[in-house]
Amino acid sequence: MVSAVVRAAFTTMARSDLLKRLASRYGMRQPASFARRFVAGESVDEALAAARELRASGMMSTLDLLGESVTSAHEARTATRDYISLLEAIAAADVDRNISLKLTQLGLDVDRATCFDNLRRVLDVAKPAGFFVRIDMESSEYVEQTLDIFSTVWGIGYRDVGVVIQSCLRRSDADVRRLNALGARVRLVKGAYREPRRVAFTDKREVDAAFVELTRRLLAGGTYPAIATHDPAMIAATETVARERGLARDRFEFQMLYGVRRDLQAALTAEGYPFRVYVPFGREWFPYFMRRLGERPANVGFVLRALVREGR
Ligand code: FDA
Repeated sequence: MVSAVVRAAFTTMARSDLLKRLASRYGMRQPASFARRFVAGESVDEALAAARELRASGMMSTLDLLGESVTSAHEARTATRDYISLLEAIAAADVDRNISLKLTQLGLDVDRATCFDNLRRVLDVAKPAGFFVRIDMESSEYVEQTLDIFSTVWGIGYRDVGVVIQSCLRRSDADVRRLNALGARVRLVKGAYREPRRVAFTDKREVDAAFVELTRRLLAGGTYPAIATHDPAMIAATETVARERGLARDRFEFQMLYGVRRDLQAALTAEGYPFRVYVPFGREWFPYFMRRLGERPANVGFVLRALVREGR
């Protein structure tokens, strides 16, 4: 994790329309363009090709059609339709039936009922086709609503759906207890958003300590948790807890982001852990891409080198 100042700078840049326009012009233009390191492409076909490649390497995938913070019911309906088309394309392509989505993409900022209806539309197509749908977690102001909507769909009988919990948030211990009691599947992450001290740990040691504690709780009483991190210390802690509890390797899975620590991805797969890669794709890749840069400013050097190469 990097300092709050660096993360703040990238959060601000992520909102810049000028940067977004420039990045959109250059970021995906060629197969070697800089955004392709973290984003599988702009089209469904490119995402499916990435999922097939992962499968050939023994890894599972979850496909994420990028987009967030839509501001009109029309955009939310369009995103919902796009997700339903994605489900159909995945089913026809015979890759892992697993998607990730964000509730602000389905209209959470428009109004809750719109978002809920759109989520049900997606789940009603996903369920009979045997998909698992993961609801990503966004910044802290959305956590309560996201968990409420999740509990409601769970309450009316959808089971192949899970959420994400962020170890940086102070509330997460209570949330994990609640989700474990339900029997819901949780993906544990550190948290990608800049959060106020009031609701979040801002010191890396605290975020990491909370991650280990939550992993312990999930492995003890959760349902097939997903431990999503690139941090070797978190992975080692997970392996230790699993060993202590005598858990078989197929009782949980590790997950990482497309393009990040491919060496570790291959190593964990070779060790026999169920391993899933989060594969983001789509035209709205800029905010996602900026969060990845903010996590590791060394990536900026990589982007600049790619831009110089493309400019030649
Ligand atoms: P940390 O940031 O401490 O990094 C540990 C090491 O990993 C670094 O030293 C570096 O080697 C490597 N690394 C990490 N990020 C890198 C990058 N961008 N480029 C290159 N190397 C990098 N967040 C959220 O808020 N809501 C969500 O729904 C999700 N969903 C999600 C799904 C999956 C499958 C993953 C893996 C992650 C998420 N996240 C997320 C993101 C998560 O919250 C977090 O921001 C990143 O995973 C980075 O944290 P790490 O645990 O990797 O540790």
